[in-house]
Amino acid sequence: MSKYVIAGGNPLSGSLRVHGAKNSVLPILAATLLVNGESVIHNCPDLKDVRSAIKILSHLGCRVTRENDTVIVDARTMSRFDIPESLMREMRSSVMFLGAIIVRAGKARMSFPGGCELGPRPIDLHLSSLKKLGVSISEEGGEIICEAGDMKGAEINLSFPSVGATENIMLAATMCSGRTRIINAAREPEIEDLEKFLQKTGSKIHGAGGSVIEIEGAAFASGVEHTVMPDRIEAATYLCAAAITHGEIELLSVAPEHLSTVVAALEESGCFVSAEPGRLYLRSGNELKAIRPVRTMPYPGFPTDVQSPLMALMAKAKGTTIFIENIFENRFRHVCELLRMGANIRVEGKIAVITGVPKLSGASVKMTDLRGGAALVIAALGADGVSEVCELSHTDRGYEKMDERLRSLGADIKRVE
Ligand code: UD1
Repeated sequence: MSKYVIAGGNPLSGSLRVHGAKNSVLPILAATLLVNGESVIHNCPDLKDVRSAIKILSHLGCRVTRENDTVIVDARTMSRFDIPESLMREMRSSVMFLGAIIVRAGKARMSFPGGCELGPRPIDLHLSSLKKLGVSISEEGGEIICEAGDMKGAEINLSFPSVGATENIMLAATMCSGRTRIINAAREPEIEDLEKFLQKTGSKIHGAGGSVIEIEGAAFASGVEHTVMPDRIEAATYLCAAAITHGEIELLSVAPEHLSTVVAALEESGCFVSAEPGRLYLRSGNELKAIRPVRTMPYPGFPTDVQSPLMALMAKAKGTTIFIENIFENRFRHVCELLRMGANIRVEGKIAVITGVPKLSGASVKMTDLRGGAALVIAALGADGVSEVCELSHTDRGYEKMDERLRSLGADIKRVE
């Protein structure tokens, strides 16, 4: 079993270039199925989830090559329309391939994603929206079977601005005759990145970033080149890590405009932050303070993915901070592990009350999910003594070379396989 051994206490200091966004590259890799030729995707992070998406594309018959951070997908050779259960299990968000496979193959087949570490993760919004566009859907032995009927554009009102459902509709709508309008669409920056990619494939699509997105069919382009946007969650994670160690950090190739709620929280906690296009600088205060209640919300609200990293920081901040998790049902599983390090946290349903302690202590802890795992690494960096953080398969899904990057900032961290 792989683990990080972290001796806490070293103030982080230095500069990092933020990688391309995991949550942007995954739907874009699905969208390469709409290109009748080569898609050249730059700034692709080397992550377990990206490797899983590449395995899906290869399984479907696409030719995929990777050279450093550039992934080239040739979808002309696509010959299948199914995703086997083993690959669905590797990455639950592979449901985002559904819309794109239907567009290319006229049908799709995959197993139900089922529950995940963040609680039940239903796909009802994905399926009801695809039905509205004319896809007939049946379920058989835990599998979803989709057949494209007479696909026509439609007006789709989402009862919740689901990121994945918005992306699936955007992809499927490129096959429809007429216009599709998504109302109450997710407004995350990654949706805008997908829109930019789809525009390059010839789709008439606009509105991403707002709550109404309009799509009008597609002309399958013969080649597309795209650079993935910076990862705002990776950036927020390293900001929290620098803050808890009373360090200072410069992030480059970052989009500060996507991090305004996170920066506001860090400033409130006593950190000095300055932003300019493509660059963020943080210097941690001598004493971290509790902040006003943090409510996770769809973008532009506070991101659920940064709830646990910020909670690790608040575990050492003076005073009491309340976190209200509004997006996922089961996103406090890291709390038990933080308690082992001496944190003072109480959880009641979707509310967590964190009373900062003067010091956290090194302990042996287990990652429970991707961002919860990042929270444990942050807490260990800010703790007295040595921690062992195991189950690295979680952070490997979303952080490229996390240990190397933290070492380059002065952290005492080593990976043991
Ligand atoms: C995406 C991100 C994830 C982030 C989340 C919320 C990717 C690969 N992942 O996940 O990092 O934490 O957005 O910002 O981009 N829901 C339903 N029915 C549906 C779909 C969703 O009830 O059909 C619920 C989910 O259970 C959850 C909430 O809606 O409670 C948000 O889910 P959604 O926005 O779809 O998140 P993902 O796209 O899965």
